Amino acid sequence: MQEIKVHLTAAPKEKPQKGAKLGFGKIFTDHMYLMEYSPEKGWHDPRIEPYHAISLEPSAMVFHYGQEMFEGMKAYRTEDGRVLLFRPDKNIARANNSNRRLCIPEIPEDDFLAGLKKLVEVDQDWIPTDPGTSLYIRPFVIATDPFLGVRPSDTYLFIIILSPSGAYYESGLDPVKIWIEDDYVRAVRGGIGEAKTGGNYVASLKAQMKAHDEGYSQVLWLDGVERKYIEEVGAMNIFFKINGKVVTPMLNGSILPGVTRASCIDLCKSWGMDVEERRISVDELVEAAKSGALEECWGSGTAAVISPVGHLRFEDTVMQIGNGGIGPVSQKLYDTVTGIQTGKLEDTLGWTVQVK
Ligand code: COI
Repeated sequence: MQEIKVHLTAAPKEKPQKGAKLGFGKIFTDHMYLMEYSPEKGWHDPRIEPYHAISLEPSAMVFHYGQEMFEGMKAYRTEDGRVLLFRPDKNIARANNSNRRLCIPEIPEDDFLAGLKKLVEVDQDWIPTDPGTSLYIRPFVIATDPFLGVRPSDTYLFIIILSPSGAYYESGLDPVKIWIEDDYVRAVRGGIGEAKTGGNYVASLKAQMKAHDEGYSQVLWLDGVERKYIEEVGAMNIFFKINGKVVTPMLNGSILPGVTRASCIDLCKSWGMDVEERRISVDELVEAAKSGALEECWGSGTAAVISPVGHLRFEDTVMQIGNGGIGPVSQKLYDTVTGIQTGKLEDTLGWTVQVK
């Protein structure tokens, strides 16, 4: 593992007050972690610097062909003063899966984890402690070769930034309304849907705007081939409770393998629930809603945590889930996941990693 150089800021910024409305991803801490890649040196020069703007050539390849990977994680301060990360090994493994798909050199896992821990330790006083808040962590890699031909870049920059944040959706834990999109698609089999990269998110914007105009906050994507099977929401994976069983789309190469998704599956199974990872057609969903078999629906994601879904709309059919409020499984998952993350519940599964 490489030694991390630390250069602390001489001008710390003012931190948000306790109780301040943080929003999501709007405020950034005093420091950032950086590391560069070149074919000669590999990943090198890991360092912490004061948070600053970066300078890139206008010809840097990331601007032209979108060769970039990002991740999302969170750090929490426990009541007894410890700082916890949630399953960082899973995010680091996923980052390198994305890197492989995007022809970005893999980041040594120990350098990634050490950089993450050191940065969170340096900026630990920025971790908010109000209910529903956390320190959101955004690691990302960009291609930096100054070149306009289409090929993988030779050089890269890896950065981690931190953002004290509240709930991802302004509605907090209140149920969201979701639009099932049958015109635009997010990803296709064999494409980059299972990689965490900006291209998947820009692909979602047009439909998101359409959904917003109709009064829906998020888009639920169908598969890009048959436009028939449920995939994911983009900012989160999706779960249903149908006839007493927890059902979620199976990973098929075009769905992001969410860390919170995997945690929901493990928790529901540990509570003795039947969990099915399989194809779910939108027709099955509409039928289940009509017959009353669709008991609950929620999304899962690092930023969103557990987000209950109150309404789904497909074409002209509006489906209210249960009474449109927060279902019992969603509430139990939210309480358990956030309880483990914040150290309020015992971590019997070994999911948390202590920074300090
Ligand atoms: C996350 O959940 O961390 C994500 O990266 C999703 C993003 C849309 C905020």
